[in-house]
Amino acid sequence: MLKVAVLVSGGGSNLQSILDYGQDSFKVEMVIGSKDGIYGLERAKNAGIPIHVVSRKEYGNETSNKILELTKGKVDLIVLAGYLSILDGEILKEFKDKIINIHPSLIPSFCGDKMYGMHVHNAVRKSGVKFTGCTVHFVNEEVDGGSIILQEVVPVYFKDTAEDIQKRVLVEEHKLLPRAIDLFSRGKIEIIDGRVNILK
Ligand code: GAR
Repeated sequence: MLKVAVLVSGGGSNLQSILDYGQDSFKVEMVIGSKDGIYGLERAKNAGIPIHVVSRKEYGNETSNKILELTKGKVDLIVLAGYLSILDGEILKEFKDKIINIHPSLIPSFCGDKMYGMHVHNAVRKSGVKFTGCTVHFVNEEVDGGSIILQEVVPVYFKDTAEDIQKRVLVEEHKLLPRAIDLFSRGKIEIIDGRVNILK
């Protein structure tokens, strides 16, 4: 069974969707939080999953290395589920094509440096686009720049607040992320020239 580490920075609703996924193709081995006291870590505790806290405040430039130390040889896949820090250095080589992230927009729109959480939905609303969505992608050196695995589209209505958009997108995130992990665990994701082909 595929062993997974999930990284969280906040409420952890995406972590919950992974924990609630009704298939046994993967197992969450550990949850790593970017700071103490976040609800995502509570969710892990409630599910009996070992937790770690690796904060940038404590580890500074060594943050990614500390996460590598915790995960190397222990998990097969790292999932960024609302993890808002940027991974860099050795971990990206050690876990090449084995780190995935969920982003709350249709990449390559509304993504990149400083585009996370509500910033994304505010920008979407302001832009006047009629559709947004979410993306699960592999993580590489470029922020939100790795190969796209799955995307889902949601409509944006004139009367929507940024919170309305966030809620509508989250519903889809909660389906998309576990599905991507499940596909990965079953060896159904192949990358060809930077593009993902989902095998039948
Ligand atoms: C989610 O909307 C996720 O897509 C976003 O943070 C939220 C976390 O919610 N991630 C990013 O913006 C990453 N660039 P959650 O803690 O309830 O899962």
